[in-house]
Amino acid sequence: MARSVHSLLLALILLIRANSLISPCPSLRRNVKPLFSSVTDKVDQLLELVQHNSDETSIRQTIEELSALNSPRSDAEDDESLFKPLLGNYNVSFTLPNLPNERPVGGKWNRGPFVLESQWQHLIPKKVQNSVAQAVNMIIVRILFWRIYVILRGDAFRLSSLDRDRLSAVRNTPGGLSPRTVRADFDPPRVVLCTRQNKVLLSLSLGPTSSVFLDTTFCDNRVRIGKGSKGSRFVFVRSNDPVADEWKRLVAHKPVGKRQLVSFFGGFGLASLMGVWRCSGIFRNLSILGMLLCWPSALLAAVSTGGIEEDDPTMMEGSY
Ligand SMILES: *[C@@H]1O[C@H](CO)[C@@H](O)[C@H](O)[C@H]1NC(C)=O
Repeated sequence: MARSVHSLLLALILLIRANSLISPCPSLRRNVKPLFSSVTDKVDQLLELVQHNSDETSIRQTIEELSALNSPRSDAEDDESLFKPLLGNYNVSFTLPNLPNERPVGGKWNRGPFVLESQWQHLIPKKVQNSVAQAVNMIIVRILFWRIYVILRGDAFRLSSLDRDRLSAVRNTPGGLSPRTVRADFDPPRVVLCTRQNKVLLSLSLGPTSSVFLDTTFCDNRVRIGKGSKGSRFVFVRSNDPVADEWKRLVAHKPVGKRQLVSFFGGFGLASLMGVWRCSGIFRNLSILGMLLCWPSALLAAVSTGGIEEDDPTMMEGSY
């Protein structure tokens, strides 16, 4: 009995000594531990705030605090260690425009009869040699009996420190840009019209190519905090939702070009014009209806840019 108490005590003493050997400075130990837990706590707090759509001031503050804890240190770090940890599917959970008049995410797609269902900003493995990742923006909008997907896929390239300095000077980026800044060069947007059951009705490739800059100021296994070149902030939350991968199936559909679309609606418009002129009764009424629908559609197709606005951060900030 006495022996076992004795050896227990000895073991305890050894343990304490070993502990103080590993960590000779107790004050340091006290500082390191809470730092780790405070990051987790802060992320918890951020997710909580974002979920409950809390006031911008506290969200902004939490974003700043997390960013201060997690900025990459040196420019020398290679692409693997800088960008690989960022890869994943993300829900755009919160956007904080830097200027009050900067439009929130989504461009034209969150107005009028459109209901924004969800919005995504993925970073997935690269496809092109010198890039560091592919960026995929997807907005899902509901309108009447349909669902519209607006998809932007692009290649993300790393920026040299010179380019970053130049850009942050021109755009007046608050706090500058970190080595994790990328320029994403997007293909023309894909606009896919589906039924509510997600059967593809029409796939369009509309509008111009575009480029945006995006910095990442914090990233862990739950969130990625983004920063636009004009200082807008974004909270992207990692997601396993299968909806996040819908874009893969949809971009595989061959799109109808703008010219085809304009001639399609234009042709019908012309036919209905003939109908109005030549027909009477119900056919005339149908022709008038056709004209009312087709001419604006043709015009819309001709001038459409796919919902991208110059100054919109996630769809995203204007070209360089
Ligand atoms: C995405 O995030 C928003 C805001 O936190 C949330 O309301 C929404 O349910 C999320 N969507 C998905 C599909 O996870």
